[in-house]
Amino acid sequence: MKPTETLLSEILDEVRPLIGRGKVANYIPALAKVSASKLGIAVCYNDGEIIQAGDSEECFSIQSISKALSLTVAMTLYEPDEIWQRVGKEPSGHAFNSMIQLELENGIPRNPFINAGALVVSDLLHSRLSAPQYRMLEQVRELACNPHLVYDKEVAASEMQHSDRNASIAYLMRSFGNFENEVMPVLTNYFSYCALKMSCVDLARTFSYLANKGLPLGAKKNIISQTQCKQMNALLATCGLYDGAGEFAYRVGMPGKSGVGGGIIAIVPGEMSIAVWSPELDPSGNSLAGTAALELLAERIGRSIF
Ligand code: DON
Repeated sequence: MKPTETLLSEILDEVRPLIGRGKVANYIPALAKVSASKLGIAVCYNDGEIIQAGDSEECFSIQSISKALSLTVAMTLYEPDEIWQRVGKEPSGHAFNSMIQLELENGIPRNPFINAGALVVSDLLHSRLSAPQYRMLEQVRELACNPHLVYDKEVAASEMQHSDRNASIAYLMRSFGNFENEVMPVLTNYFSYCALKMSCVDLARTFSYLANKGLPLGAKKNIISQTQCKQMNALLATCGLYDGAGEFAYRVGMPGKSGVGGGIIAIVPGEMSIAVWSPELDPSGNSLAGTAALELLAERIGRSIF
């Protein structure tokens, strides 16, 4: 069954009472300013039809959702082995910014979606692109069919001011020989990717290539191959929600990626891409009401990859 806007509005009404039970991220001070009551959802079908409800057109900080986009760009620039010898494909079972495994596992991050892994991916982009920030923005604007998308400079600067942990992660990897460039310029780019401002509608459109075998909306050419698309969805399903990945698979049953801005994208391969936004997070750093909305939607439309 195709969801309708009425169904999406009903789902938002059902999850709204959860607002107040989570916590808006405050370790990046600029994020703490966002109103906790925001709630939006958008669905993009593979035929391009968009349905939406709530604050679906309001932009927010996509944060770690950008990790799926930077990996996509890296996949277009590198041979698989060049990526996967530097970052693993296994769930970490630890917080997104944990350093515990990194020390024990010779500076090779468990997967590309924890901070350590995304920093390696940013390092890969830095090595092969003359202007990685520009290239990423251009790519995301094209995928979203929105030429107005920008980085939120205030959020990026705020994160740079509180970057000790990410800098430590990058320097630790550098000490193991798993970081090619100077840490600070790579961190600056990574924070910009995280600070991309997008709405649920932008995100649902952007990620439609993952629901459509690698073919972006309205495009004639794949951005990644069908095989790479399968690989990306597998990584999202197992690692996209950090130490909450099992719970998300159990409740929602779709490949997904969250961000501490409160956004989550989810994919129904062959059919649709979905984006939700509610800024309050659960203890794993995933949107609390957003996860509940996706769970209800999956149930009501009878979709799951399992
Ligand atoms: O590096 C960080 O900590 C943030 N820019 C991104 C973390 C994040 O979104 C984790 N997601 N749930």
